[in-house]
Amino acid sequence: MNMEVEAIKPHIGSVIRVARKALCEDDTVAQRCLEVLEERGVLVFPRMHLTDAEQLAFTDRLGKRVSYTDKAPGTDADQADVYTISLDPKINKQPEYVLGTFFWHMDGITSDIPPPRATLLTARSVAPKGGQTQFANTYAAYDGLSTAEKHEYAAIRVTHNAYASMRLIMENENEEFVRHARAFEKERPLVWTHRSGRKSLLIGSHADRVVGMPLAHGRALLARLLEWTAQPSFTYSHEWQEGDFVVWDNCGTLHRVIPYDAQSGRTMHRTTIEGLEAVN
Ligand code: OGA
Ligand code: MN
Repeated sequence: MNMEVEAIKPHIGSVIRVARKALCEDDTVAQRCLEVLEERGVLVFPRMHLTDAEQLAFTDRLGKRVSYTDKAPGTDADQADVYTISLDPKINKQPEYVLGTFFWHMDGITSDIPPPRATLLTARSVAPKGGQTQFANTYAAYDGLSTAEKHEYAAIRVTHNAYASMRLIMENENEEFVRHARAFEKERPLVWTHRSGRKSLLIGSHADRVVGMPLAHGRALLARLLEWTAQPSFTYSHEWQEGDFVVWDNCGTLHRVIPYDAQSGRTMHRTTIEGLEAVN
């Protein structure tokens, strides 16, 4: 297997250099990528310039792909199951969901099915300003807590709902949306114990209240933990170049995008791998 792996920062990220053909066709490459993903949280493949078909081929080698039933209207992707991320109103008629990516989050945490295992993005077109995607290692954030904090947080539960993240970007509350978001609210442990035995913090913009704690105390705790997790040593900021391909472990990292303009032309092609671990 001809594949080079190089750490980006001590706590997060690896650059992988491998030929396109090997990435899409070699099972040992895919297997090694999954191992590195688990250890390092983020994989960066510089300037791979994958076609949609190649990205899907690699996606399928990593796991079971998520089927997108409602693609972004006007998408320029030429394959089903490839989702186009764009703020351009000509491409995306529902920019709210993309604006929500400006805040630290995990994908699919309020869903009934296990959160996606990994998300894969190819940069088709980059923004001249902003648009960096940032990642924070939530395993490292947990490991870095003091013994007393680990003990204190062990039994804490937190509610997560889409309204908690959407109120950050909504000028006026839409009652219908709030009702819907609250109806799908999920209670999750603050500390996620994975099948591997490793533990990570489960927080993000979708975290709303700490169960059994006064509202202000709970939200202050969640804000403090988010600040802790987003400290430079646990994070990596990816400065995109056209054709870059980045994969992240959605269950062991948080991510967000530095704001970019709707007119910037920034376009990402996304595929997603189904989760294997329910979080209760
Ligand atoms: C996402 C997301 C990041 C980006 O697709 O879930 O958060 O860089 N996107 O656009
Ligand atoms: Mn996301």
